[in-house]
Amino acid sequence: MENLIEIADVRHTFQTASGPLPVLDGLEVSVPEGGFVAVVGPSGCGKSTLTRLIAGLLIPDEGSVFVHGARVTGPRANVGMAFQNPVLLEWRTILDNVLLPLEIVASPLSKTEKQDRARKLLALVGLEGFENKRPSELSGGMKQRASLCRSLIHQPEVLILDEPFGALDAFTREDLWQTMHKVKAEEPFTAVLITHDLRESIFLADQVVVLSGRPARTQFTLDVPDTGIRTLDHLYTPEAAEMLNILRHQIEVAQGRVPAKDVA
Ligand SMILES: Nc1ncnc2c1ncn2[C@@H]1O[C@H](COP(=O)(O)OP(=O)(O)OP(=O)(O)O)[C@@H](O)[C@H]1O
Ligand SMILES: [Mg+2]
Repeated sequence: MENLIEIADVRHTFQTASGPLPVLDGLEVSVPEGGFVAVVGPSGCGKSTLTRLIAGLLIPDEGSVFVHGARVTGPRANVGMAFQNPVLLEWRTILDNVLLPLEIVASPLSKTEKQDRARKLLALVGLEGFENKRPSELSGGMKQRASLCRSLIHQPEVLILDEPFGALDAFTREDLWQTMHKVKAEEPFTAVLITHDLRESIFLADQVVVLSGRPARTQFTLDVPDTGIRTLDHLYTPEAAEMLNILRHQIEVAQGRVPAKDVA
């Protein structure tokens, strides 16, 4: 199958006031259409920089970034993004916050169809009845649910999630993971998730990419079998424990704490 996103041998160095800072050095990531890839790696290694490559906000010094077979040469409108901080606009209702991307990206939908779509997404994430509330009236988890709807409203070809659940408490986070599976079943998307949570990576993704310390290269890739709708019980199986162990070892290698085992 042709990959929707193809990042091949990417290298990039930032020029900073204190000199050149090599950030990416041999980045390889492929995401098939409908795929869900999680990216993990040490803090500051270049994960958010990777998301900027996909969104076309950064053109690398070397190597190539292709989306849908076309080289990325500038900012792409058809990308949905959600971050650790949901940044909803307080002067807008939740419904109007979700509709925001449709004011920027051209859409063939009528005003009523846009609103219907926003309401449908909000209902899907459990926010039915909150359409006319303001962001400050919602909990952190609810804001993040609204932010997810906003990132999907224009049916982006790629959904980029940069630690969207990082600031939530453990139980809310697990709730959101299950919501993600539910949303993907109803509204198929292709996603790249940046996370520091290994359990989250194997719960949500069908492939986990481990980046090395800075400058980041693709150090290791793990395929996660069985990508249907998962329950939390899945995380307590021996298979899950084995995957988590492999990933934890790879993170320690990336952090330079231990040498790589011959057999991961
Ligand atoms: N525009 C820029 N100019 C200069 N340096 C930058 C720029 N953007 C990022 N950096 C540096 O590049 C490195 C990688 O940054 P990036 O934000 O990609 O890391 P990260 O893996 O997302 O980190 P974290 O896990 O803390 O979110 C950091 O050292 C950062 O300071
Ligand atoms: Mg980051």
